[in-house]
Amino acid sequence: MKISVYHAPEEFPTAGTFDCAIAIDVLRATTTMCCALEAGADSVQAFSDLDELMTTSEEWAADKRVRIGERGGKMMPGCDLGNSPLEVTRDAVAGRRLFMSTTNGTRALNKIKPVTMVLTAALTNRQAVVDFLKDEQPGAIAMVSSGWEGSYSLEDTVCAGAVIDGLMPVLPKDWMGNDEAVAAHALFVQWRDSLDVLLQQASHGQRLLGLGNTADLEFCAKLDIVNTIPIQREPGILIAHARG
Ligand code: MLT
Repeated sequence: MKISVYHAPEEFPTAGTFDCAIAIDVLRATTTMCCALEAGADSVQAFSDLDELMTTSEEWAADKRVRIGERGGKMMPGCDLGNSPLEVTRDAVAGRRLFMSTTNGTRALNKIKPVTMVLTAALTNRQAVVDFLKDEQPGAIAMVSSGWEGSYSLEDTVCAGAVIDGLMPVLPKDWMGNDEAVAAHALFVQWRDSLDVLLQQASHGQRLLGLGNTADLEFCAKLDIVNTIPIQREPGILIAHARG
């Protein structure tokens, strides 16, 4: 395995050849996705564009869909939920498709969707992702942070580092695909015992705290508490892969 980390979707090289691409948006889209699928959601369909989400979801029966729309940390009008992992309970999502558009997370997924194997990672499902990669052994892996509107984010980078750390015992000596991957691992090693503090210091963490989302922040900082990996079944549509 050779691992590269990209700090924002815009950095993901279109000409690159990867066997596996992993979208990361710890705050909060990829945390919400793994929680929703673990709670029994049928699938997640990601949209960059909210109007497209509305039009496509109209074709589904109201009791078989959940619309999740977020911009700038706030729920969008016309949506059912606003991208909180604590809201995607069994009652709210079981058996339904999530139609989801968020500021950065769904953009990252859109960027990597042509890759053969696409999954999403968060701190909450880190170990499940590590176990999956150990089983599948993809050669070249890209971890793509959602960042914030094209720029770096601490929480996504530390999550990439956490995945690398979990894989470390099985990685070859030349595992590093770029310098960012080495830096991501160092960030995780530095903060592994205080991920909650790191998320509070992160700029999007500050934004969410300002909006009163303290409980979301605490939840998103928890390591290895979800066993489900969202995995792409067809471009833009993810289903659950449960850890065996
Ligand atoms: C995003 O896609 O930027 C996030 O998930 C924003 C959020 O809802 O916290």
